[in-house]
Amino acid sequence: MATGISKKEQLSVDSLTAVMPHRDPHPLPYTNFFEFTYPNKISVAEILEPLPSSFLKVMRNGETKKITTVDDNSIILADNYFGLHKLLESGEKATLIYLDPPYNTGMDFQTRDLKHAYNDQISDTAYIEFMRRRLILMREILSDDGSIYLHIGHQMVAQLKIVMDEVFGIKNFRNIITRRKCSSKNFTKHQYANINDYVLFYSKTENYKWNKPGQKPSDEWISKEYTKVDAKGQYKLVPVHAPGTRHGQTGLEWRGMLPPPGKHWQYVPSKLDELDAAGDIHWSKNGNPRRKVYLTDDKKRPYTDYWEDFRDAHHQSIVISGYPTEKNYDMLKMIVGASSDPGDLVLDPFNGSGTTMHAACELGRRCVGIDQSFAAIEATLKRLRKGLSPMGDYVQKNNESLEKKNQDLFGFDKENLGVVHTSNTGYEISFIADAELLQAFKEEILELAAI
Ligand SMILES: C[S@@+](CC[C@H](N)C(=O)[O-])C[C@H]1O[C@@H](n2cnc3c(N)ncnc32)[C@H](O)[C@@H]1O
Repeated sequence: MATGISKKEQLSVDSLTAVMPHRDPHPLPYTNFFEFTYPNKISVAEILEPLPSSFLKVMRNGETKKITTVDDNSIILADNYFGLHKLLESGEKATLIYLDPPYNTGMDFQTRDLKHAYNDQISDTAYIEFMRRRLILMREILSDDGSIYLHIGHQMVAQLKIVMDEVFGIKNFRNIITRRKCSSKNFTKHQYANINDYVLFYSKTENYKWNKPGQKPSDEWISKEYTKVDAKGQYKLVPVHAPGTRHGQTGLEWRGMLPPPGKHWQYVPSKLDELDAAGDIHWSKNGNPRRKVYLTDDKKRPYTDYWEDFRDAHHQSIVISGYPTEKNYDMLKMIVGASSDPGDLVLDPFNGSGTTMHAACELGRRCVGIDQSFAAIEATLKRLRKGLSPMGDYVQKNNESLEKKNQDLFGFDKENLGVVHTSNTGYEISFIADAELLQAFKEEILELAAI
């Protein structure tokens, strides 16, 4: 394992190389900033210019009211470019933004009951500029102690990392998280099976909220990790030294022993004596000391940048909204808990079925979601006002649905057919629509509002 050395420590002769950058006739660009160039890349000032638009709150009884600010716990039916501008104009500040935009897969998506959900076909540069414009608006909405999580597939993760660096600054990059999205499939392409997607995590500044997320360890993990027991309980052994030489007390002899070469004691010798007197030091047969770390009831395993336990719905009894690409609810609860506090505003500008809003409501945060798809609004309002349904119900419903002829004009099943909304969420959610959309699709939007 590689170990770091502090800046103060001297490099030895074996770390010298023959590279002399100043003699290179074509010097490398010694800067940290770079960005994509392509046609129609507009300036930040152009992106932030106010956009003429108007929004209306649509009540369940069909009444509408023009709004100037957005209520807490609102779902907005709009292109998010307009929706984000509206939030910016009304001075909203979000502590957490989670977004799960289309991955640029070149595919069309349907809901589990076979309605068109959204289209994911756009050229690569158009996609990058589409995302950049919206990310710049998100940056303006994000509070100074806020964080942004961008969930994306392998198709665009590399390009969006560069866009995120451009918009949020490379110094605010925190992690690129690999999320296992599914089990290994029967994969027929001549390449490795794809089972992961990625989350780019950035903060707005260096002072961002971080509530140390951790998971309760499994019995299996505990028995592998905490292999020893004594009268005080189950424990594991860890070194009492750490990498790097020190010239203070932690570099001195303790019990006639110097720390191993290139290392220092983790504690000053008097503290090591105290630990030993309390029985917290284990001495090996060869006389090497190690510290005992006891298992406590509140032990949590910190999450790493590999998330294995947040797969998307994969068995019939899991409750879901039926929207395609719906993300794992527990993952969203973990993110909301890690990067916001109760009362903070959580925003999802590519809302889909409202998984983020659901997690935020559940954890006492305020939330706003934006989506341009009618099917996404339907899934969100049903989920938050009525609840979710076991995945198995949709399989049964699909068969009935295919035979049923009298669906309404944009494919909604008015009677909800076989799907039973079991988990009773019952949140108070406001429904806001872009005024132009309301004018063009009044009947459909009033039908959504009545959910
Ligand atoms: C991958 S889905 C999000 C799924 C969501 N995370 C969930 O758990 O259900 C992406 C969503 O972005 C929406 N979308 C795409 N472009 C948009 C735009 N310009 N404005 C608003 N929504 C958009 C699509 O309609 C789709 O619902």
